[in-house]
Amino acid sequence: MNKALHVAIIMDGNGRWAESKKQKRVKGHEQGAKAVREITKFCATHKDIERLTLYAFSTENWKRPRLEVEFLMKLLEKYLKNELEVYIKNNIRFEPIGDIRAFSASLQKLIKEVKQKTAHCDGLVQSLALNYGSHDEILRAVNKLRHEKKDITNEMLSNALDCKHQVDIMIRTGGDQRISNFLLWQLSYAELFFTDTLWPDFHEDELTDILNEFGKRERRFGGLN
Ligand code: FPP
Repeated sequence: MNKALHVAIIMDGNGRWAESKKQKRVKGHEQGAKAVREITKFCATHKDIERLTLYAFSTENWKRPRLEVEFLMKLLEKYLKNELEVYIKNNIRFEPIGDIRAFSASLQKLIKEVKQKTAHCDGLVQSLALNYGSHDEILRAVNKLRHEKKDITNEMLSNALDCKHQVDIMIRTGGDQRISNFLLWQLSYAELFFTDTLWPDFHEDELTDILNEFGKRERRFGGLN
């Protein structure tokens, strides 16, 4: 198996998890944050995984009720404050993607601080996609490159994106089978896995099964084997 896998996850189903337990939707997000920690720590110890990119807040999530958005912002702040120690202890580098300029000044400061304080870590790279949308990412990259005199190459565009790394394994929890504006450029040859498990119930044993299944798939990248 490739020793440097990039795993990306669309963490869906927090709301339904809470509703199934007759709890408020936000309780599902709280439990979802715990699953983020568990899966991140597992990936940090896994010999084959180099990068883990998690869809935490999309450019479209602002359409949710104001109170839910506010809760998610507070949860993110709490998570990052607590997590700094966990990142450093587990040698995890935090590299957010997305346009964080839409967040409050204090949250932007915290995101930059955690990034900077973990910059020396050379184990797993955990990327949280924050105010992230693939169209927005590609447009920002194209705008960065628009004054180039020469034709834009694949490499130039890749390097101008927030996430410069192709994905090997894309997992979506929560039962839906769509990509929802996540890493469209980077998913070109990713192996896709969809599970009905709701994100708060997604644990390392299921990720291990997916990694085993991935190991059996034949990747041809458009060529012949
Ligand atoms: C989808 O569940 C999940 C999100 C909107 C974003 C993911 C957020 C978390 C995992 C929690 C916070 C994360 C961090 C890093 C602090 P949904 O609400 O769409 O679920 P539903 O489809 O059941 O309604």
